[in-house]
Amino acid sequence: MRDDGRLRYGGDWNPEQWPAEVWREDVALMRRAGVNLVSVGVFAWSRLEPAPGRYTFDWLDEALDLLHVNGIRAALATPTASPPPWFSLAHPGALPVTADGVRLHHGSRDTYCAAAPTYRAAARGIAGALADRYAHHPAVALWHVHNEYGTTCHCPHTEAAFRRWLVDRYADLDALNAAWVTSFWSQHYSDWAQITTPRATQYLANPGQLLDFRRFWSDTLLAAYTEQRDLLRAANPAVPVTTNYVLGDWVPVDHARWASEVDVVAVDHYPSAVDGGAEEQTALAADLARGWARHGAYRRGTVDAGWLLMESAPHQIHTAGRMHTKEPGRMTRHSLSHVARGSRGVMFFQWRASAGGAERFHSALVPHAGPDSRVFREATRLGDLLARITEVDAGRVEASVAIGWDAACGWALQHPGLPSQRLDQQAEVAAAHRALWRAGIACDMLVPGDSLDGYRLLVLPALYLAADATADWVRDHVQAGGHLLVTWLSGVADEHGRIRLGGYPGAFRDLLGVRVEEFHPLAENDRVPLTGGGHGLTWTETVHLAGAEPVAAYAGGVLNGWPAVTRHRVGDALTWYVSTRPDGDTYQRLLTEAARSAGVTPVCPDAPPGVEAVRRRDGDRSWLFLLNHTDRPHRVPAAGTDLLTGEPVDDAVTVPAGGVAVLREPPG
Ligand code: GAL
Repeated sequence: MRDDGRLRYGGDWNPEQWPAEVWREDVALMRRAGVNLVSVGVFAWSRLEPAPGRYTFDWLDEALDLLHVNGIRAALATPTASPPPWFSLAHPGALPVTADGVRLHHGSRDTYCAAAPTYRAAARGIAGALADRYAHHPAVALWHVHNEYGTTCHCPHTEAAFRRWLVDRYADLDALNAAWVTSFWSQHYSDWAQITTPRATQYLANPGQLLDFRRFWSDTLLAAYTEQRDLLRAANPAVPVTTNYVLGDWVPVDHARWASEVDVVAVDHYPSAVDGGAEEQTALAADLARGWARHGAYRRGTVDAGWLLMESAPHQIHTAGRMHTKEPGRMTRHSLSHVARGSRGVMFFQWRASAGGAERFHSALVPHAGPDSRVFREATRLGDLLARITEVDAGRVEASVAIGWDAACGWALQHPGLPSQRLDQQAEVAAAHRALWRAGIACDMLVPGDSLDGYRLLVLPALYLAADATADWVRDHVQAGGHLLVTWLSGVADEHGRIRLGGYPGAFRDLLGVRVEEFHPLAENDRVPLTGGGHGLTWTETVHLAGAEPVAAYAGGVLNGWPAVTRHRVGDALTWYVSTRPDGDTYQRLLTEAARSAGVTPVCPDAPPGVEAVRRRDGDRSWLFLLNHTDRPHRVPAAGTDLLTGEPVDDAVTVPAGGVAVLREPPG
């Protein structure tokens, strides 16, 4: 982002939905709320290009000029996530096809095939026209390409592109047949032309084919992004380019791989949990975003690891078929949780609630009730709060624990032919993260291959796929003295999903000093007691000790007496194996102990339960964020200056019920 030193604050502004007099009220209210960045034109294609090649930029000229004179910057979007009806009618072959062969039609958004040449040409056309006209507009601080890449397709264009991708990946069919184990069920391919996308079929599909299709499609969407990015960059290299990531296990995008292609990682986050789980989800989303940003910076060889919360909900979260709300104060706490974890600002969907359209009941900073409303007042206070804490933008989040995960593992675990239907890598990653979050221990989210320098403990939850390079990455960490904690179902398969033979967890067996002979998945409501307290859920295994010592054993069920959790010393490091999903408290205790033995303590050891503490540091300057998610005030031992009040804090600060405190700590 072109920087003016402030944390970013704003949201999607959709002038195409409103008459010009509303724009003027909008901008006056934005100034009142302290808004300094808005996403513009995200779904405005039909207003910008009402007929092929005929552009109507006058209204956007006026809107951007209005922002500029009011000191508000724009994240100017390319509107390619919603082609106009004329496009679909002119190019029916660019409409997407589902796995069971149904061709979809316009009438919503995102209804196009990203592999269709006519769609790609039209997208380049509108992006190029916007670049020509606005790349040097003084209001434009950032390009926002498309919106939440996340569609999929099985049309003939996709199929042809999939084959080309497979030829690039495998070069010869023997290699593909070996990778997909097509000897099983008579699936041997003797010609590339026989290979299709994984369409609807009779019974279980080939897992290697499914996995490669997900990888291919992520690359296809990435190519659709990068060709727009290159046009925008060429028009003015000084304006950074990004696209907003959408999160969820349905998303066919490997965000980590994309991270080196964006100038700043941008994420949208809408927690699905309605209770306290929303805070954990918020923390996880923000840690993921920071991890992607670090990954991108690491791959680019730069040190700039910034990221931005591009969308969140001020109040009602509207997802298909479901709506839930954020009570007063929660918008601010969630926003600060993102900033505490490195976001360069706080953005919302959207600025003003729409008067109609599919998402007319999604919340906005200016709700249907208008500015005389609780939400707008909270939005104004949030703008003021962000202005007071600008200096934190210099700080980096400190963490000595890393969680290692990989999008492809999640995709591989979605295949139905697995020993349990309740395997979900994202849920396992979230459970490990939650346990650390509850313990108050900061962590970074990494993908295999990222630098592990400075991390004392690496946690691998259900890292099902492990290429040889991943096994080396973990081994090098342990040999350098880094501690390791691996959970069930990790290291079982190679990068194609072929099982590593000789006992689980194949790739990590030696490091952990165990050999797992059998899986014993549990039924939905089953739990197995563990010695030392707590229960195992979801999954259990027969673990043979091969150097490791038992830490806890199963205390009931068919595995009564067998090791459940083990520990092994490798040089200076301890390696832990956890063969079940421990319940929340047990997981928290276990990770606290693994972290403690690695020399890692909580960010703010005396923070009471329900008060989240995150520290950002820049050299000898540091800032402590305290977010009180409970309904009563808490006094937390801390010192420095309270940036919200300007008051000195000598030994403790009172964080109001549901409120926040941000302290500049004494140097050193
Ligand atoms: C986001 C999307 C927005 C809006 C929002 C509502 O995923 O980018 O355009 O649909 O969800 O929740």
